[in-house]
Amino acid sequence: MQSFYSMDTIIILDFGSQYTQLIARKIRELNVYCEIHPFNKIPALTPDVKGVVFSGSPYSCTAPDAPVPDMVGIKGKLPLLAVCYGAQYLARWGGGVVEPSATREYGRANLSYVDASSPLLRGVSVGSQVWMSHGDTIQHVPDNYRCICSTDNVRYAGYQIEGEPTYAIQFHPEVHHSTDGLTLLRNFVMDICHCNATWTPASFVETTVEQLRAQVGDDTVVLGLSGGVDSTVAAVLLNKAIGSRLHCIFVDNGLLRKNEFQNVLESYRDMGLNVKGVDAKSRFYKALSGLTDPEKKRKAIGKTFIDVFDAEAKQISDAKWLAQGTIYPDVIESSSVKGPSQTIKSHHNVGGLPDYMKLKLVEPLRSLFKDEVRRVGRQLGIKDSLIGRHPFPGPGLAIRILGEVTPEKVHVLQEVDDIFIQGLRDADLYDKVWQAGAILLPIQSVGVMGDERTYERVVALRAVESVDGMTADWCHLPYEFLAKMSNEIINRVRGVNRVCYDISSKPPATIEWE
Ligand code: XMP
Repeated sequence: MQSFYSMDTIIILDFGSQYTQLIARKIRELNVYCEIHPFNKIPALTPDVKGVVFSGSPYSCTAPDAPVPDMVGIKGKLPLLAVCYGAQYLARWGGGVVEPSATREYGRANLSYVDASSPLLRGVSVGSQVWMSHGDTIQHVPDNYRCICSTDNVRYAGYQIEGEPTYAIQFHPEVHHSTDGLTLLRNFVMDICHCNATWTPASFVETTVEQLRAQVGDDTVVLGLSGGVDSTVAAVLLNKAIGSRLHCIFVDNGLLRKNEFQNVLESYRDMGLNVKGVDAKSRFYKALSGLTDPEKKRKAIGKTFIDVFDAEAKQISDAKWLAQGTIYPDVIESSSVKGPSQTIKSHHNVGGLPDYMKLKLVEPLRSLFKDEVRRVGRQLGIKDSLIGRHPFPGPGLAIRILGEVTPEKVHVLQEVDDIFIQGLRDADLYDKVWQAGAILLPIQSVGVMGDERTYERVVALRAVESVDGMTADWCHLPYEFLAKMSNEIINRVRGVNRVCYDISSKPPATIEWE
């Protein structure tokens, strides 16, 4: 993969650590552009590359199959920061000794020694908390490696190599438990690598609009809008670049939230997008009829979407490009050390289009993390109500209606969901929750309303805190709020007589129930 931009860049070589993306996000928070590459696919080190970071790894550097980088163009030639595995690898490579640690080196520790003269540790003081996560430890370093910090248990918490800008630390500066981690990364990126802080939402918009004009020329582009942040930001960027030659298609699959289709369509039109709304509700309901298996439901929705989108796209004469809201984690995932991450489900890609469409792909957000997409969206003036929306799955309410989907069940769930989401907004809780929704369970329960015995539906409410959806914890919403929601739902939604609150975290549960 070639660099996306021509600006000061840090290259992070990935040895498979769970924290690699976090290093990149922290460096980008400093407004410095960086890219992640597998340790065995080092990109061309052009003059834009101002420094290199070695990530951690699940491997021990003493294992026979441990990842081995080619350091010829890097060590001693460019500033290098080796983290955790990287630090151990480099110590051993120079003739030092790395062995399994005698005591556990996981979790919080405090620096008991700091060499204040080291440029890497400027502003980091004795006592500073750091986050350790390794099974091996460095026992000895070669003579020209100078220890720059220690904890009570870890003598070589950090070292630098004399006479060259090479630094290493066994703890993780990118994890927020390392309280001076960002200071340390700033020292490396700004003072040691001399990077300019040019990676900003404004510079991204300017460069990307230019690149899009160059890439697409006078051609016509088609884009499927979903109401989500990524496709919206991609559309607004393209609209800025090529105006009405961007044709957006927004499909109503009948599985969206209450009034979502009309509201979002209106917002899109207000933003000046050339968008066509397509009512395909009945096609989706027909495709889902009789299906109860979650995967079959997802496949039916994915296929119907492609059919509908394809038919619409064909009506746009001379469309040459298909724009997609692919973001950086999707790009990294498909080229990382151990191949695609196991945590990504293939069924998430419901929007993928078949090869026969013969359109070239344009992906303006390919280099951005999710939080950066939001910042760019704000820079483009997109309303907070669109930018700050909770994630919503492609198959929509279909995977929150357990069992067979019918229009009547969709209607019931839309009403419940609307009360819950509006309730979160009214109570100022919406932005504190990462994702929320309601689930319609395939059971009925006995209740009593007035003098009558009822036998009606049960719904579950789910609200989670998360960073990226990979792990999540249930939100401890106030009891009073839950009580209010339960009352309103049972009183206002016909056919529901019981409300539960899901208190499972992920793992071992998932966010969605199907
Ligand atoms: P899970 O249920 O796997 O969900 O914990 C993690 C995140 O992914 C969303 N999700 C989906 N998104 N198509 C999508 O576009 C899907 O089939 C799908 N399944 C789950 C889920 O809403 C959460 O944000």
